[in-house]
Amino acid sequence: MNDEPQGATGKSRRRKHGIYDSPTGAKLYNLWGRLTESRAHTRALEAARLAPGESVLEVAVGTGQLFFRLRQVERLKRCIGVELAPGMLDQARRRLARTPHPQGALCRADARHLPFPAQTFDLILNTYMLDLLSEGEIHEVLTEFRRTLRPGGRLILLVMAKQNWLVQGMWMWAYAHCPTLVGGCRPVALDDFFAMAGWRIESREQISQNGFRSEMVVARIR
Ligand SMILES: C[S@@+](CC[C@H](N)C(=O)[O-])C[C@H]1O[C@@H](n2cnc3c(N)ncnc32)[C@H](O)[C@@H]1O
Repeated sequence: MNDEPQGATGKSRRRKHGIYDSPTGAKLYNLWGRLTESRAHTRALEAARLAPGESVLEVAVGTGQLFFRLRQVERLKRCIGVELAPGMLDQARRRLARTPHPQGALCRADARHLPFPAQTFDLILNTYMLDLLSEGEIHEVLTEFRRTLRPGGRLILLVMAKQNWLVQGMWMWAYAHCPTLVGGCRPVALDDFFAMAGWRIESREQISQNGFRSEMVVARIR
């Protein structure tokens, strides 16, 4: 697979996503993930209810925290992870190399232009990526997920939920003045995007860890 994804260049995009491109940013994110997102990752894996013979794609694996666990699910047909930022992908590759496993391939790719044929996957997992994207990009990505999922397939998303008033206030202040401080992420209301891109929401659930709230959305193609 191509290691230089389409549409991954633009200066403003590089500025916004820059933190994920550096080894330090990747290490910091790793720590943040362990403290605030690992419980939600566990819930996403439980909700996935993967069965032998299924094909699964994780989009935006980051440092591979979830992908590391995903590839241990037994007897999957395909288990592929993609990530756009080289710094994050590098960390994910190192993590996986530490405990080699027969299953699980990683490659560099942009969620907006996935290098897979239509109707390839039974499940797509995507965690804490939509919070980073512009509205136009969210629509593009949900449309691309729809193209690559099989009919009847499911999509599991984790996103940043709206926080309690104090955290929300401080977070949005930081997002407006120094987005790097909050990893370029903010809570996004996704309902309209799902409707526009032809998705039916099957369930949603909030998960809290150390004061940070996530939302899990399970959706299917309408
Ligand atoms: C907040 S991190 C989440 C990482 C991982 N999913 C997790 O839960 O630990 C967001 C990730 O999305 C990646 N990302 C952003 N835009 C992307 C795109 N268009 N295609 C693929 N990955 C992207 C970033 O590089 C970053 O690694």
